[in-house]
Amino acid sequence: MNGGRSTPKLPAAGDRSAGNELVVNGYSTGWLKRGFPWVYPAEIVQGRADPGTVVRLRGEGGTALGVGIADRGWISVRRFRRDDGPVDAALIRSRVEAARRRRLSIEPATTAWRLVNAENDELPGIRVDVWGGHLVVTLDSPSLRNLVDPLIAACDEAIGNADSVWLAERRDPRDIERKSIPVTALRGRVEDVTVTELGLNYEVRPSLGKDAGLFTDMRTNREWMAPHWENSRVLNLFAHTGAFSVSARANGAAEVVSVDLSDGYLARARRNFELNGLDAGELLAEDAFKALDRFRRQGRTFDRIVVDPPGYSHSDGGTWQGEKEWPRLTGACLRVLAPGGWLIAASNLGSQSPKQFGGALSEGADRTGRELRLLHEGTPGVDHPAALHFPESRYLKFWVLEAS
Ligand SMILES: C[S@@+](CC[C@H](N)C(=O)[O-])C[C@H]1O[C@@H](n2cnc3c(N)ncnc32)[C@H](O)[C@@H]1O
Repeated sequence: MNGGRSTPKLPAAGDRSAGNELVVNGYSTGWLKRGFPWVYPAEIVQGRADPGTVVRLRGEGGTALGVGIADRGWISVRRFRRDDGPVDAALIRSRVEAARRRRLSIEPATTAWRLVNAENDELPGIRVDVWGGHLVVTLDSPSLRNLVDPLIAACDEAIGNADSVWLAERRDPRDIERKSIPVTALRGRVEDVTVTELGLNYEVRPSLGKDAGLFTDMRTNREWMAPHWENSRVLNLFAHTGAFSVSARANGAAEVVSVDLSDGYLARARRNFELNGLDAGELLAEDAFKALDRFRRQGRTFDRIVVDPPGYSHSDGGTWQGEKEWPRLTGACLRVLAPGGWLIAASNLGSQSPKQFGGALSEGADRTGRELRLLHEGTPGVDHPAALHFPESRYLKFWVLEAS
Protein backbone atom coordinates (compact mmCIF):
# COMPACT_ATOMS: atom_id res chain seq x y z
CA MET A 1 0.00 0.00 0.00
CA ASN A 2 1.19 3.46 -0.55
CA GLY A 3 1.49 6.19 2.00
CA GLY A 4 -0.72 8.65 0.15
CA ARG A 5 -1.95 11.48 2.29
CA SER A 6 -5.43 11.20 3.64
CA THR A 7 -7.35 14.33 4.51
CA PRO A 8 -8.24 13.66 8.10
CA LYS A 9 -11.22 15.31 9.68
CA LEU A 10 -10.52 16.50 13.17
CA PRO A 11 -12.98 18.66 15.01
CA ALA A 12 -11.36 22.04 15.64
CA ALA A 13 -11.55 23.49 19.10
CA GLY A 14 -12.99 26.66 17.68
CA ASP A 15 -15.85 24.64 16.20
CA ARG A 16 -18.45 24.86 18.95
CA SER A 17 -20.41 21.91 17.60
CA ALA A 18 -17.42 19.68 18.16
CA GLY A 19 -15.35 21.30 20.88
CA ASN A 20 -16.36 21.39 24.52
CA GLU A 21 -15.07 23.59 27.26
CA LEU A 22 -13.81 22.14 30.50
CA VAL A 23 -13.04 24.22 33.55
CA VAL A 24 -10.26 22.92 35.77
CA ASN A 25 -9.39 23.72 39.39
CA GLY A 26 -6.57 25.95 40.59
CA TYR A 27 -4.22 23.03 41.18
CA SER A 28 -4.52 21.83 37.58
CA THR A 29 -4.31 25.44 36.33
CA GLY A 30 -0.93 25.79 38.04
CA TRP A 31 0.39 22.59 36.52
CA LEU A 32 -0.95 23.35 33.03
CA LYS A 33 0.67 26.79 33.16
CA ARG A 34 3.99 25.11 33.96
CA GLY A 35 3.62 22.85 30.95
CA PHE A 36 2.29 19.64 32.45
CA PRO A 37 0.09 18.14 29.72
CA TRP A 38 -2.51 16.08 31.63
CA VAL A 39 -5.72 16.87 33.48
CA TYR A 40 -6.98 14.28 35.96
CA PRO A 41 -10.71 13.58 36.56
CA ALA A 42 -10.77 15.12 40.05
CA GLU A 43 -9.41 18.40 38.65
CA ILE A 44 -12.39 19.15 36.41
CA VAL A 45 -14.85 21.47 38.10
CA GLN A 46 -17.20 22.10 35.19
CA GLY A 47 -18.12 20.50 31.88
CA ARG A 48 -17.82 17.04 30.45
CA ALA A 49 -16.65 15.64 27.14
CA ASP A 50 -16.75 12.29 25.40
CA PRO A 51 -13.44 10.48 24.86
CA GLY A 52 -11.76 11.66 21.66
CA THR A 53 -13.47 15.08 21.71
CA VAL A 54 -11.33 18.16 21.25
CA VAL A 55 -11.77 20.37 24.33
CA ARG A 56 -10.77 23.88 25.33
CA LEU A 57 -9.34 24.11 28.82
CA ARG A 58 -10.15 27.04 31.09
CA GLY A 59 -9.18 28.03 34.61
CA GLU A 60 -11.90 28.94 37.11
CA GLY A 61 -11.40 32.62 36.37
CA GLY A 62 -11.74 31.96 32.62
CA THR A 63 -8.00 31.83 31.83
CA ALA A 64 -7.34 30.06 28.54
CA LEU A 65 -5.19 26.98 29.24
CA GLY A 66 -5.04 25.44 25.81
CA VAL A 67 -6.67 22.67 23.85
CA GLY A 68 -6.58 18.94 24.36
CA ILE A 69 -8.30 15.65 23.70
CA ALA A 70 -10.70 14.25 26.25
CA ASP A 71 -10.42 10.74 27.62
CA ARG A 72 -12.07 8.71 30.33
CA GLY A 73 -10.22 6.64 32.84
CA TRP A 74 -7.32 7.86 34.91
CA ILE A 75 -6.56 10.84 32.62
CA SER A 76 -9.38 13.19 31.55
CA VAL A 77 -7.56 15.39 29.03
CA ARG A 78 -4.23 15.27 27.19
CA ARG A 79 -3.36 18.82 26.19
CA PHE A 80 -1.96 19.23 22.68
CA ARG A 81 -1.41 22.97 22.58
CA ARG A 82 -1.20 25.84 25.01
CA ASP A 83 -3.12 28.33 22.84
CA ASP A 84 -6.66 27.99 21.50
CA GLY A 85 -5.68 26.87 17.98
CA PRO A 86 -6.92 23.68 16.34
CA VAL A 87 -5.64 20.16 16.90
CA ASP A 88 -5.37 19.41 13.22
CA ALA A 89 -3.12 17.87 10.58
CA ALA A 90 -0.96 21.02 10.42
CA LEU A 91 -0.26 20.90 14.16
CA ILE A 92 0.62 17.23 14.02
CA ARG A 93 2.88 17.78 11.02
CA SER A 94 4.75 20.55 12.80
CA ARG A 95 5.22 18.39 15.91
CA VAL A 96 6.50 15.43 13.88
CA GLU A 97 8.86 17.70 11.92
CA ALA A 98 10.24 19.11 15.19
CA ALA A 99 10.63 15.60 16.57
CA ARG A 100 12.52 14.55 13.44
CA ARG A 101 14.87 17.55 13.75
CA ARG A 102 15.63 16.61 17.37
CA ARG A 103 16.88 13.25 16.12
CA LEU A 104 19.12 14.32 13.27
CA SER A 105 22.25 13.39 15.20
CA ILE A 106 21.33 9.69 15.23
CA GLU A 107 23.86 8.07 12.94
CA PRO A 108 22.15 7.09 9.66
CA ALA A 109 23.34 3.48 9.94
CA THR A 110 21.12 3.05 13.01
CA THR A 111 17.74 2.03 11.61
CA ALA A 112 15.91 1.37 14.90
CA TRP A 113 14.86 4.47 16.76
CA ARG A 114 11.91 6.37 18.16
CA LEU A 115 10.53 9.15 16.01
CA VAL A 116 7.90 10.43 18.45
CA ASN A 117 8.20 10.17 22.22
CA ALA A 118 4.74 11.19 23.34
CA GLU A 119 4.46 14.07 25.84
CA ASN A 120 8.15 14.84 25.34
CA ASP A 121 7.59 15.67 21.68
CA GLU A 122 4.31 17.49 22.38
CA LEU A 123 2.22 14.62 21.07
CA PRO A 124 0.84 13.29 24.35
CA GLY A 125 -0.05 9.63 24.51
CA ILE A 126 1.53 8.88 21.11
CA ARG A 127 4.76 7.03 20.37
CA VAL A 128 6.13 6.20 16.95
CA ASP A 129 8.94 3.66 16.61
CA VAL A 130 10.92 3.23 13.42
CA TRP A 131 12.09 -0.29 12.58
CA GLY A 132 13.94 0.10 9.30
CA GLY A 133 11.22 0.83 6.73
CA HIS A 134 8.42 0.01 9.16
CA LEU A 135 6.56 2.09 11.72
CA VAL A 136 4.79 1.16 14.92
CA VAL A 137 2.39 3.76 16.29
CA THR A 138 1.54 3.15 19.94
CA LEU A 139 -1.35 4.97 21.55
CA ASP A 140 -1.89 5.28 25.28
CA SER A 141 -5.63 5.44 24.71
CA PRO A 142 -8.24 4.74 22.00
CA SER A 143 -9.35 8.37 22.46
CA LEU A 144 -6.37 9.32 20.26
CA ARG A 145 -7.36 7.21 17.26
CA ASN A 146 -8.63 10.21 15.27
CA LEU A 147 -5.06 11.46 15.16
CA VAL A 148 -3.59 8.35 13.57
CA ASP A 149 -4.21 9.24 9.90
CA PRO A 150 -2.68 12.72 10.08
CA LEU A 151 0.13 11.33 12.21
CA ILE A 152 1.06 8.70 9.62
CA ALA A 153 0.86 11.28 6.84
CA ALA A 154 3.23 13.50 8.83
CA CYS A 155 5.65 10.60 9.44
CA ASP A 156 5.65 9.75 5.71
CA GLU A 157 6.52 13.34 5.00
CA ALA A 158 9.25 13.50 7.64
CA ILE A 159 11.10 10.25 6.90
CA GLY A 160 9.64 8.81 3.68
CA ASN A 161 6.78 6.41 3.16
CA ALA A 162 6.94 3.37 5.41
CA ASP A 163 6.48 -0.10 3.89
CA SER A 164 4.29 -1.16 6.77
CA VAL A 165 2.57 0.70 9.58
CA TRP A 166 1.25 -0.95 12.73
CA LEU A 167 -1.07 0.37 15.40
CA ALA A 168 -0.59 -0.78 18.98
CA GLU A 169 -2.37 0.39 22.09
CA ARG A 170 -0.84 0.35 25.54
CA ARG A 171 -2.82 -0.87 28.47
CA ASP A 172 -2.02 1.29 31.43
CA PRO A 173 -2.15 -0.80 34.60
CA ARG A 174 -3.92 2.09 36.36
CA ASP A 175 -6.74 1.91 33.85
CA ILE A 176 -8.76 -1.02 35.12
CA GLU A 177 -11.35 -0.80 32.35
CA ARG A 178 -8.95 -1.43 29.50
CA LYS A 179 -8.17 -4.82 28.05
CA SER A 180 -5.04 -5.35 25.97
CA ILE A 181 -5.73 -4.66 22.33
CA PRO A 182 -4.09 -6.60 19.49
CA VAL A 183 -1.63 -4.83 17.21
CA THR A 184 -3.23 -4.15 13.83
CA ALA A 185 -1.64 -3.59 10.41
CA LEU A 186 -2.71 -0.24 8.99
CA ARG A 187 -0.56 -0.51 5.90
CA GLY A 188 1.34 -3.44 4.40
CA ARG A 189 2.46 -6.46 6.40
CA VAL A 190 5.82 -7.79 7.47
CA GLU A 191 7.07 -10.53 9.77
CA ASP A 192 10.64 -10.23 10.98
CA VAL A 193 12.77 -7.25 10.06
CA THR A 194 16.53 -6.93 10.53
CA VAL A 195 17.45 -3.52 11.89
CA THR A 196 20.84 -2.03 12.70
CA GLU A 197 21.98 -0.36 15.88
CA LEU A 198 25.55 0.94 16.18
CA GLY A 199 26.70 -1.34 13.38
CA LEU A 200 25.11 -4.50 14.80
CA ASN A 201 22.08 -6.36 13.48
CA TYR A 202 18.98 -7.28 15.44
CA GLU A 203 15.80 -8.97 14.37
CA VAL A 204 12.57 -7.30 15.41
CA ARG A 205 8.93 -8.04 14.75
CA PRO A 206 6.89 -4.82 14.36
CA SER A 207 3.62 -6.75 14.68
CA LEU A 208 4.51 -7.32 18.36
CA GLY A 209 4.14 -3.59 19.04
CA LYS A 210 6.09 -2.47 22.11
CA ASP A 211 7.54 -5.97 22.39
CA ALA A 212 9.12 -5.75 18.92
CA GLY A 213 12.44 -7.01 20.30
CA LEU A 214 14.85 -4.15 20.95
CA PHE A 215 14.78 -1.39 23.57
CA THR A 216 16.04 1.64 21.70
CA ASP A 217 16.19 3.73 24.89
CA MET A 218 19.28 1.66 25.79
CA ARG A 219 21.19 2.42 22.58
CA THR A 220 23.27 5.24 24.09
CA ASN A 221 24.06 3.03 27.06
CA ARG A 222 25.21 0.19 24.83
CA GLU A 223 27.29 2.78 23.01
CA TRP A 224 28.88 4.02 26.24
CA MET A 225 29.66 0.48 27.34
CA ALA A 226 31.16 -0.61 23.99
CA PRO A 227 34.83 0.11 24.86
CA HIS A 228 34.48 -1.50 28.28
CA TRP A 229 33.75 -5.15 27.46
CA GLU A 230 37.20 -6.11 26.12
CA ASN A 231 38.38 -9.48 27.53
CA SER A 232 35.74 -9.43 30.25
CA ARG A 233 33.55 -12.24 31.53
CA VAL A 234 30.01 -10.89 31.17
CA LEU A 235 26.81 -11.96 32.89
CA ASN A 236 23.67 -10.42 31.38
CA LEU A 237 20.71 -11.03 33.67
CA PHE A 238 17.18 -10.34 32.39
CA ALA A 239 18.86 -10.56 28.99
CA HIS A 240 15.68 -10.32 26.89
CA THR A 241 16.62 -10.61 23.19
CA GLY A 242 20.28 -10.25 24.08
CA ALA A 243 21.09 -6.74 22.85
CA PHE A 244 23.63 -6.12 25.64
CA SER A 245 25.03 -9.65 25.20
CA VAL A 246 25.51 -9.23 21.44
CA SER A 247 27.07 -5.82 21.92
CA ALA A 248 29.42 -7.15 24.63
CA ARG A 249 30.54 -10.09 22.47
CA ALA A 250 30.99 -7.88 19.39
CA ASN A 251 33.11 -5.52 21.47
CA GLY A 252 35.54 -8.12 22.71
CA ALA A 253 33.98 -9.83 25.73
CA ALA A 254 35.79 -13.08 26.42
CA GLU A 255 32.72 -14.87 27.73
CA VAL A 256 29.01 -13.97 27.72
CA VAL A 257 26.32 -15.65 29.79
CA SER A 258 22.75 -14.49 29.14
CA VAL A 259 19.97 -15.35 31.60
CA ASP A 260 16.28 -14.78 30.99
CA LEU A 261 13.16 -16.49 32.24
CA SER A 262 11.79 -16.75 28.74
CA ASP A 263 12.90 -19.41 26.23
CA GLY A 264 11.24 -17.34 23.52
CA TYR A 265 13.38 -14.26 24.20
CA LEU A 266 16.51 -16.39 24.37
CA ALA A 267 15.69 -17.94 20.98
CA ARG A 268 15.53 -14.41 19.64
CA ALA A 269 18.83 -13.62 21.37
CA ARG A 270 20.41 -16.65 19.64
CA ARG A 271 19.15 -15.35 16.31
CA ASN A 272 20.67 -11.93 17.04
CA PHE A 273 24.07 -13.51 17.71
CA GLU A 274 23.76 -15.43 14.42
CA LEU A 275 22.87 -12.28 12.49
CA ASN A 276 26.19 -10.82 13.58
CA GLY A 277 28.22 -13.97 13.03
CA LEU A 278 28.92 -14.25 16.76
CA ASP A 279 29.05 -17.24 19.07
CA ALA A 280 26.05 -17.03 21.43
CA GLY A 281 27.89 -18.22 24.51
CA GLU A 282 25.63 -19.58 27.26
CA LEU A 283 21.91 -18.83 27.01
CA LEU A 284 20.19 -19.90 30.22
CA ALA A 285 16.40 -19.94 30.52
CA GLU A 286 15.89 -19.55 34.24
CA ASP A 287 15.15 -17.21 37.08
CA ALA A 288 17.94 -14.67 37.64
CA PHE A 289 18.14 -15.33 41.40
CA LYS A 290 18.41 -19.08 40.85
CA ALA A 291 21.23 -18.57 38.34
CA LEU A 292 23.04 -16.19 40.71
CA ASP A 293 22.72 -18.64 43.56
CA ARG A 294 24.17 -21.47 41.47
CA PHE A 295 27.11 -19.33 40.29
CA ARG A 296 27.82 -18.42 43.91
CA ARG A 297 27.81 -22.09 44.95
CA GLN A 298 30.09 -22.92 42.01
CA GLY A 299 32.44 -20.08 42.92
CA ARG A 300 32.01 -18.71 39.40
CA THR A 301 32.66 -14.98 38.98
CA PHE A 302 32.19 -12.29 36.33
CA ASP A 303 33.84 -8.95 35.51
CA ARG A 304 30.70 -7.23 34.23
CA ILE A 305 27.15 -7.94 35.36
CA VAL A 306 24.23 -6.27 33.56
CA VAL A 307 20.98 -6.17 35.56
CA ASP A 308 17.96 -4.67 33.85
CA PRO A 309 14.94 -6.27 35.51
CA PRO A 310 11.28 -5.66 34.69
CA GLY A 311 8.96 -3.79 37.05
CA TYR A 312 7.09 -6.96 37.90
CA SER A 313 7.37 -10.62 37.02
CA HIS A 314 6.44 -14.01 38.39
CA SER A 315 8.30 -17.31 38.12
CA ASP A 316 8.79 -20.52 40.10
CA GLY A 317 11.68 -18.63 41.68
CA GLY A 318 9.08 -16.27 43.18
CA THR A 319 7.59 -12.90 42.40
CA TRP A 320 9.82 -10.05 41.33
CA GLN A 321 8.44 -6.77 42.59
CA GLY A 322 10.35 -3.88 41.19
CA GLU A 323 12.05 -1.59 43.61
CA LYS A 324 11.63 -3.85 46.67
CA GLU A 325 13.98 -6.47 45.20
CA TRP A 326 16.95 -4.25 44.41
CA PRO A 327 18.86 -4.74 47.69
CA ARG A 328 18.57 -8.55 47.42
CA LEU A 329 19.42 -8.50 43.71
CA THR A 330 22.44 -6.24 44.26
CA GLY A 331 23.71 -8.46 47.06
CA ALA A 332 23.29 -11.61 44.94
CA CYS A 333 25.15 -9.98 42.02
CA LEU A 334 27.99 -8.73 44.21
CA ARG A 335 28.57 -12.27 45.51
CA VAL A 336 29.56 -13.32 41.97
CA LEU A 337 31.20 -10.09 40.79
CA ALA A 338 35.00 -10.22 40.69
CA PRO A 339 36.96 -7.64 42.77
CA GLY A 340 36.98 -4.35 40.85
CA GLY A 341 34.21 -5.66 38.58
CA TRP A 342 31.36 -3.54 37.27
CA LEU A 343 27.69 -3.76 38.12
CA ILE A 344 25.68 -2.24 35.28
CA ALA A 345 22.32 -1.61 36.91
CA ALA A 346 19.25 -0.32 35.10
CA SER A 347 15.82 0.44 36.48
CA ASN A 348 12.97 1.68 34.35
CA LEU A 349 10.57 2.22 37.22
CA GLY A 350 9.40 5.81 37.04
CA SER A 351 8.18 5.56 40.64
CA GLN A 352 11.74 4.93 41.89
CA SER A 353 13.75 8.14 42.27
CA PRO A 354 17.51 8.12 41.60
CA LYS A 355 17.98 8.66 45.35
CA GLN A 356 15.88 5.60 46.18
CA PHE A 357 17.73 3.60 43.55
CA GLY A 358 21.08 4.58 45.05
CA GLY A 359 19.78 3.71 48.52
CA ALA A 360 18.66 0.25 47.39
CA LEU A 361 22.01 -0.45 45.70
CA SER A 362 23.91 0.69 48.79
CA GLU A 363 21.76 -1.50 51.02
CA GLY A 364 22.59 -4.49 48.82
CA ALA A 365 26.29 -3.62 48.85
CA ASP A 366 26.26 -3.29 52.66
CA ARG A 367 24.90 -6.82 52.96
CA THR A 368 28.02 -8.12 51.24
CA GLY A 369 30.48 -5.75 52.90
CA ARG A 370 31.49 -4.30 49.52
CA GLU A 371 31.53 -0.71 48.31
CA LEU A 372 30.10 0.63 45.06
CA ARG A 373 31.37 3.66 43.16
CA LEU A 374 29.31 5.33 40.45
CA LEU A 375 31.44 5.60 37.29
CA HIS A 376 28.76 6.65 34.85
CA GLU A 377 25.11 7.56 34.76
CA GLY A 378 23.49 7.03 31.38
CA THR A 379 20.41 8.51 29.80
CA PRO A 380 18.41 7.49 26.76
CA GLY A 381 19.41 9.19 23.53
CA VAL A 382 17.94 12.11 21.60
CA ASP A 383 15.10 9.92 20.38
CA HIS A 384 13.85 9.63 23.96
CA PRO A 385 13.85 13.27 25.04
CA ALA A 386 12.49 13.98 28.52
CA ALA A 387 10.54 17.21 28.96
CA LEU A 388 11.45 18.77 32.31
CA HIS A 389 7.85 19.85 32.86
CA PHE A 390 6.82 16.20 32.58
CA PRO A 391 8.69 14.37 35.36
CA GLU A 392 7.06 11.02 34.45
CA SER A 393 9.34 10.81 31.42
CA ARG A 394 12.58 10.48 33.39
CA TYR A 395 11.98 6.86 34.29
CA LEU A 396 15.34 5.35 33.37
CA LYS A 397 18.25 4.95 35.76
CA PHE A 398 21.32 3.43 34.13
CA TRP A 399 24.23 3.29 36.51
CA VAL A 400 27.65 1.79 35.91
CA LEU A 401 29.18 0.98 39.27
CA GLU A 402 32.58 -0.32 40.21
CA ALA A 403 32.63 -2.75 43.12
CA SER A 404 35.46 -2.92 45.66
C1 LIG B 1 13.37 -4.93 30.79
S1 LIG B 1 13.64 -6.48 29.96
C2 LIG B 1 15.37 -6.42 29.85
C3 LIG B 1 15.88 -5.63 28.67
C4 LIG B 1 17.29 -5.94 28.23
N1 LIG B 1 18.26 -5.60 29.23
C5 LIG B 1 17.62 -5.21 26.92
O1 LIG B 1 18.16 -4.09 26.95
O2 LIG B 1 17.28 -5.75 25.88
C6 LIG B 1 13.25 -7.61 31.23
C7 LIG B 1 13.49 -9.10 30.92
O3 LIG B 1 13.49 -9.79 32.15
C8 LIG B 1 13.00 -11.11 31.94
N2 LIG B 1 12.62 -11.64 33.26
C9 LIG B 1 11.53 -11.35 33.99
N3 LIG B 1 11.59 -11.94 35.19
C10 LIG B 1 12.75 -12.64 35.22
C11 LIG B 1 13.38 -13.44 36.21
N4 LIG B 1 12.81 -13.65 37.39
N5 LIG B 1 14.59 -13.97 35.91
C12 LIG B 1 15.17 -13.75 34.70
N6 LIG B 1 14.60 -13.00 33.73
C13 LIG B 1 13.42 -12.45 33.99
C14 LIG B 1 11.88 -10.91 30.95
O4 LIG B 1 11.62 -12.13 30.24
C15 LIG B 1 12.45 -9.80 30.06
O5 LIG B 1 13.08 -10.33 28.95
